[in-house]
Amino acid sequence: MNDTFLKACRGEETDYTPVWLMRQAGRYLKEYQEVRSKVDFLTLCKTPELAAKVTLQPIDILNVDAAILFSDILIPIEAMGMHLEFSDKKGPVLGDPVRNKAGVDRLVIPDTEDSMGFVLETIRILRRELSDRVPLIGFSGAPYTLATYIIEGGSSKNFMHTKKMMYQNPGLFGALLEKITAVTIEYLSAQIRAGAQAVQLFDSWAGILTPYDYENVIFPYVKTAVKALKKFDVPVIYFANDCAGILKIVKKCGADVIGVDWRVDMQKAAKKIGKKASIQGNLDPCVLFAPKEHIEERVQDILNKAEGTRGHIFNLGHGILPETPVENAIAMVEIVHRLSRKK
Ligand code: CP3
Repeated sequence: MNDTFLKACRGEETDYTPVWLMRQAGRYLKEYQEVRSKVDFLTLCKTPELAAKVTLQPIDILNVDAAILFSDILIPIEAMGMHLEFSDKKGPVLGDPVRNKAGVDRLVIPDTEDSMGFVLETIRILRRELSDRVPLIGFSGAPYTLATYIIEGGSSKNFMHTKKMMYQNPGLFGALLEKITAVTIEYLSAQIRAGAQAVQLFDSWAGILTPYDYENVIFPYVKTAVKALKKFDVPVIYFANDCAGILKIVKKCGADVIGVDWRVDMQKAAKKIGKKASIQGNLDPCVLFAPKEHIEERVQDILNKAEGTRGHIFNLGHGILPETPVENAIAMVEIVHRLSRKK
């Protein structure tokens, strides 16, 4: 099996730098669009054969070193009892946002097998179909990022309702985070038992917090989740988006791998993280719109700067954009493999 990705997660020597792309299955691929033209997004997530099919598309097309389960971080929120819809214009919409105690009390801690069995079935199909070609990554939203969707009712600009609850009713905010943390742990444990060989926690909105609130209010739940998952023998990756201002805190989360976005210089990030964890990242997704020579220059720059880290997994600094030319994504993977290969 190609276990380069798992080795880099654990900080072991590899022949080259492994690479995968956040949101590597998606609309920039015509093969994905073809599947998606027949079913809506949630149906795609809930139909294991189709979810497995689109998970495999980037493995064949891009030649990446890991597969990531096709699903969405909002799936468990639906299982907690909220109504979820994806609208083409507004993105995700969750009915009846949670803003008081009754709302928090109403949320359930679902049994993954009963309410999200389709995710576990997708994982089982994928492990069979991948037959150890590359490892499979499972994922979940991190507790706080899930909380923002639950409280805001969808995406947000300034996260006013989330911060209002955090400042006006810290007890309730804590109770909500505690409930979501329990869900996250149970959900990812079930994914690992079903066959996920690594798991990633997406903290997409960590960067909108003050370092004070991140450290004192949010971070304890990150540590709790990571610690619980460390009971399994699979690497845990923690990706906090827009992490430059909080990396000193983030690095203490206990994860095997810290994912970093593109706003932070790889050398500075590597220095901050030290040998505590491997590092994942961090090409600006928009560099994939540049000519191939420039992509090569930027890949080389990141590879140079990641030298000496415990382990490096090349990735974008955030999800690939739907408008990205596929041939540039293919070229990027080839460039990472070629430039990093030990002579
Ligand atoms: O990485 C992968 O290939 C796995 C699939 C994956 C999706 N969403 C598929 C998706 C993963 C890992 C996610 C995570 C996710 N979802 C995050 C965390 C990562 C990040 O980007 O910060 C977040 C915040 C979401 C919530 C979400 N899902 C939003 C805000 C949207 C709408 C915006 C958009 O990109 O369309 C989605 C929809 C979504 N999730 C799509 C895909 C392929 C597009 C749906 C479509 O086909 O129309």
